Amino acid sequence: MKYINQKLLRAPGALLAALGLISGQAFAGTIVGTAHDFSASGFSGGEICVVCHTPHHADTTVTEAPLWNHELTTQTFAMYTSPTLDAAQDAQPTGASKLCLSCHDGATAIDAFGGNVGTIFMGGPAAVGANDDLTDDHPISITYDAALATVDQGLHDPTATTVTIGDGGDKTRTGLVSDLMLPSDKVQCSSCHDVHNNFVVPGTNGDPFLKVTKAGSAICLTCHNK
Ligand code: HEC
Ligand code: HEC
Ligand code: HEC
Ligand code: HEC
Repeated sequence: MKYINQKLLRAPGALLAALGLISGQAFAGTIVGTAHDFSASGFSGGEICVVCHTPHHADTTVTEAPLWNHELTTQTFAMYTSPTLDAAQDAQPTGASKLCLSCHDGATAIDAFGGNVGTIFMGGPAAVGANDDLTDDHPISITYDAALATVDQGLHDPTATTVTIGDGGDKTRTGLVSDLMLPSDKVQCSSCHDVHNNFVVPGTNGDPFLKVTKAGSAICLTCHNK
């Protein structure tokens, strides 16, 4: 079993930056040069998007992302549980979370796309759903709407709370938490992470694809009224 070599994946960006051809800032708010840029991996033909999307012959069963091209996880996960959880939780990961776990489960090959079987699996801390275990992770696939915020006073009303996502660059946008973070009124991996955009310089590992910085726990305080 092969494990992904991040240094190799990030080589082109790091090399260009080292050569001073581009500044780190040039990466902000883009997938280029991030952990999701597989163009230097050797298995994507030098492309970026094709590992997850394809212009033709897409998997039409996937509606949470357009023109999906990656193998889907077939694992059965143990979901988060706690005596104080008020939100309704789907029995298994749904929406974008299922797509993320189709690599981040450590069991579906990263290079399993476009019909390829794939041989490279994720290991280490990035494999958040490894061993089919989501019990030690922030709950996902839970409904978070105005009604939940009246039941749980420790949460802001997502339909009346605004959030700014981005680093001030051209992708920065401000809107309601419900619009920018909660697809179908649910907390998913994509509530906190933007799969395409690192708003900090990749490799610094400061805010891994986070929509809002973790500095001062700003990301948590976006939803939690603590
Ligand atoms: C590692 C997997 C991955 C890669 C690589 C990737 N995407 Fe995506 N994409 C997703 C997922 C997951 C979603 C749905 C969740 C979301 O929008 O956050 C998505 C959603 C989208 C959407 C619809 C939502 C939106 O943001 O408008 C578009 C368009 C898109 N991707 C285009 C691209 C393009 C173009 C590239 C290459 C430059 C690319 N993606 C690379 C995983 C990926
Ligand atoms: C095609 C496979 C694939 C898909 C689909 C995918 N990822 Fe990743 N992701 C990776 C790989 C490979 C890495 C680097 C792993 C490592 O650090 O060892 C990574 C790294 C990350 C990181 C850490 C970034 C860093 O700089 O340390 C985050 C956060 C992340 N992914 C979130 C997501 C989310 C959220 C989704 C779904 C919206 C998603 N990923 C979908 C393959 C994928
Ligand atoms: C409630 C917000 C939230 C949700 C939901 C969430 N994450 Fe994260 N995730 C974070 C934060 C914050 C960090 C940074 C942790 C740190 O650096 O201390 C992080 C870190 C990560 C990392 C880097 C971990 C590492 O040690 O390399 C990966 C990969 C990741 N998340 C993937 C996912 C996936 C996949 C999902 C869905 C199953 C998900 N996240 C759901 C907030 C979230
Ligand atoms: C997009 C909104 C959102 C963000 C961002 C977010 N959370 Fe949550 N979180 C929720 C919701 C909704 C619940 C479910 C609360 C409930 O039903 O009791 C929850 C649940 C939790 C729980 C478990 C509560 C319980 O009773 O079991 C903890 C702990 C928690 N979040 C901590 C965090 C931390 C720490 C961060 C930042 C890293 C964070 N959350 C970011 C929305 C969010």
